Amino acid sequence: MLPPTGATRLAAVIGSPVRHSLSPRLHNAAFAALGLDWVYVALEVAPGDAAAALAGMRALGLGGLSVTTPHKEAVAEACHHLTDDAATLGAVNCVVPVDGELVGHNTDGPGFVASVRATGTAVDGARCVVLGAGGAARAISLSLARSGAAEVAVVNRTAARAEQAVAPLGGVGRVVAPDEVAGPLASADIVVNATTVGMGEPGPDDLPVDPSPLHAGQLVVDIVYRPLETPLLAAARHQGATAVNGVPMLVHQAAVAFELWTGEAAPVEAMSLSVAELLS
Ligand SMILES: NC(=O)c1ccc[n+]([C@@H]2O[C@H](COP(=O)([O-])OP(=O)(O)OC[C@H]3O[C@@H](n4cnc5c(N)ncnc54)[C@H](OP(=O)(O)O)[C@@H]3O)[C@@H](O)[C@H]2O)c1
Repeated sequence: MLPPTGATRLAAVIGSPVRHSLSPRLHNAAFAALGLDWVYVALEVAPGDAAAALAGMRALGLGGLSVTTPHKEAVAEACHHLTDDAATLGAVNCVVPVDGELVGHNTDGPGFVASVRATGTAVDGARCVVLGAGGAARAISLSLARSGAAEVAVVNRTAARAEQAVAPLGGVGRVVAPDEVAGPLASADIVVNATTVGMGEPGPDDLPVDPSPLHAGQLVVDIVYRPLETPLLAAARHQGATAVNGVPMLVHQAAVAFELWTGEAAPVEAMSLSVAELLS
């Protein structure tokens, strides 16, 4: 990283807690790879203070802001403008200053789709199963539908949240009850775990779904990245499927933000290496 100068641009992530965030690592690696005079820091912002943080971003002239838990919804309300996806989701994870106003984006879905395409798997025409209906699952489901998926089946413990996730998906979305998931899992091209099951220190049976219908030719993504290898990924690989953890999504959602802020093509390889070192 270049030593900061009077001309250095500042970007940041706000969240609570935020100390564990990998975003500073990813973005500073990207700035360094391209020799950009930018610095990225993590800022702890207490719940309830998101609107004040956004006013601060504007006053201080930050070049970009990432937003993580618990501020994504409050930031969506505090931005001057939202993209269609951010408005549909009611959640913002990336703020871009444009002519003195703040535009809220959600890069989780586009980042997920980019990470799938990076494996060589087509999203257009794909049959997809999304496990979970929280913030990440809703963003992923919306982007899969917008990217031409033939079907997006949402499976969630709490049925009402699955209905909410499916509502903006048009004809390609449907709710599948957890006890009816075997058929959709067997016929899926892409299976995504966007629940928190498998996070932390999972036991060997800590699975979001019975993996026995999985098979070769499928892509199974677990968006959890701590740990890198979840019981679902191990089981999917055992069944012959291609298994991918949450790191590529993490990198690609940051890459989309980086490009919005700097106007430069993101150095995805350098960004991946920066977190691989830390997580492995
Ligand atoms: N790789 C990346 O870039 C990336 C980006 C964003 C998030 N993530 C990861 O994605 C995961 C979800 O994040 P989020 O923000 O969407 O969380 P969230 O909004 O809290 O949603 C959590 C989801 O997990 C489900 N769930 C929790 N415990 C469960 C259990 N015991 N059995 C079945 N379902 C359970 C919830 O179901 P109910 O609705 O029934 O409660 C809900 O669907 C986290 O692990 C997060 O770290 C990764």
